[in-house]
Amino acid sequence: MSFEQEIKRRRTFGIISHPDAGKTTLTEKLLLFGGAIQEAGAVKSNKIKKGATSDFMEIERQRGISVATSVLAFIYKDKKINILDTPGHKDFAEDTFRTLTAVDSVIVVIDVAKGVEEQTEKLVEVCRMRNIPMIVFINKLDREGKDAFDLMDEVEQKLGLHVTPLSYPIGMGYDFQGIYNIWEKNINLFEGDSRKNIEETIAFSDIDSPELEKIIGEKPANKLREELELIAEVYPEFDREAYLTGKLQPVFFGSALNNFGVRELLDCFIDIAPTPRAKESDTRLVAPEEKKFSGFVFKIHANMDPKHRDRLAFVKIVSGTFERNKPYLHVRHGKNLKFSSPNAFFAEKKEIVDISYPGDIVGLHDTGNFKIGDTLTEGEAMNFKGIPSFSPEHFRYINNADPLKAKQLEKGVDQLMDEGVAQLFTLEMNGRKVIGTVGALQYEVIQYRLEHEYGAKCNYENFPAYKACWVLPDDPKNEEFKEFKRVKQKFLGHDKHGQLVFLADSEFSIQMTNQKYPSVKLYFTSDYH
Ligand code: G4P
Repeated sequence: MSFEQEIKRRRTFGIISHPDAGKTTLTEKLLLFGGAIQEAGAVKSNKIKKGATSDFMEIERQRGISVATSVLAFIYKDKKINILDTPGHKDFAEDTFRTLTAVDSVIVVIDVAKGVEEQTEKLVEVCRMRNIPMIVFINKLDREGKDAFDLMDEVEQKLGLHVTPLSYPIGMGYDFQGIYNIWEKNINLFEGDSRKNIEETIAFSDIDSPELEKIIGEKPANKLREELELIAEVYPEFDREAYLTGKLQPVFFGSALNNFGVRELLDCFIDIAPTPRAKESDTRLVAPEEKKFSGFVFKIHANMDPKHRDRLAFVKIVSGTFERNKPYLHVRHGKNLKFSSPNAFFAEKKEIVDISYPGDIVGLHDTGNFKIGDTLTEGEAMNFKGIPSFSPEHFRYINNADPLKAKQLEKGVDQLMDEGVAQLFTLEMNGRKVIGTVGALQYEVIQYRLEHEYGAKCNYENFPAYKACWVLPDDPKNEEFKEFKRVKQKFLGHDKHGQLVFLADSEFSIQMTNQKYPSVKLYFTSDYH
């Protein structure tokens, strides 16, 4: 297969949802179709029950053994599908945001009864800002839920999307009979038995045919005709270009648990979903077809085995091919690195590969060279954009609780921050260190990992900040900026890259600062340049 064909057959995407909507179940069913797993129950849920650190640790431990679950790859109808796993728990939302920089499209799963939930809103907003193509899958149709039209309205209103259904349910819950596939023009009858429905598809190019009554009954047949007519009036026709540019989102209905509507979703997905997309760097747009390799680190996974403190850096290939034992430039360090055992991911396994293509993810063993966001190239000095840090929501001083282990603590904190577990700010005034996180759970995770992986102990002290604002003065030499620095000195620090950060203690304080020092610009993410 040629290089161009290899690119064209790749589909790299993420599944996002509010916890419990059915992301894990859908992932599993997709893998079953791809023949990548043989039975249900093989995919481990990455769900974290209420605030239980032990849950997280257990999950991390399992993942340490089988980190491959971060990327699930399989072949379906000759397409190479790469699913990037995203944690659903809100305390790990930042991890998900970062993973979204490596996907070419997403599938959004929504629970038919619960509708659009909080976490879905946040994640979809990030995708919308980046114009990532999205497909919506409305799940659990075997249960009583909201009316399909109402739900599509809700999706448009709350998520700011423009939808068009490509399938439509016939009944729901107890009366759920199946799905009319608008895309393929056929009916899929719901038998409640998983894989059976593949053979149960009935072609239906003419919805007015009296055959419809015979199959689903007179009343449901009339209702379906009416509703399909309404859909044709209300919703735009599917337009692939609009979908690819993030302007239109097709909707599918089904029941992941019953493996219903999943094949339709997958078949349509491989037809319409984008092949690996070009990516913007600080110097230019990089196209996948370019012959020279480039890629970036979007995730670092620690191996939880304390005896081997190695980590796996996940690199998304943007252009060219990644080859084993070939030297590549680590742009931030300005040095060449070679990788003798790059891992590729296949189903739930990882294996050493000689060559990988744009859209693929390779896992590189790392002893501390990589940070999230690092770029690798075949020599070109450029950095990929688009992995910002978001303002944390919790802030605590971190103190050393074992004076003999200061070095270990420093190293541990340093490496955990490189992995993106949390953000570290060093106060300008006294050099004290403040850790900022998205959720309180991370503090326990950090404490646990420092102890188990680095032999260091820490404790925390509250730091009264509300938000981290990255500071960019119009003119660093003007009096206003000097005054700002003098007045706010207790709340100023530097992030890992040495950028100045104002740790504001309230919304009011941010507003006052904006008013008093208009030439000092405050930003809530780190990618303001
Ligand atoms: P998540 O990854 O998005 O958090 O969701 P997950 O797939 O774990 O699904 C959450 C719950 O919803 C699970 O039940 C799962 O079995 C159920 N579910 C998923 N799809 C469907 C569906 O189409 N219909 C129905 N009725 N239920 C569905 P659970 O009881 O929390 O877990 P389990 O003990 O069954 O695994």
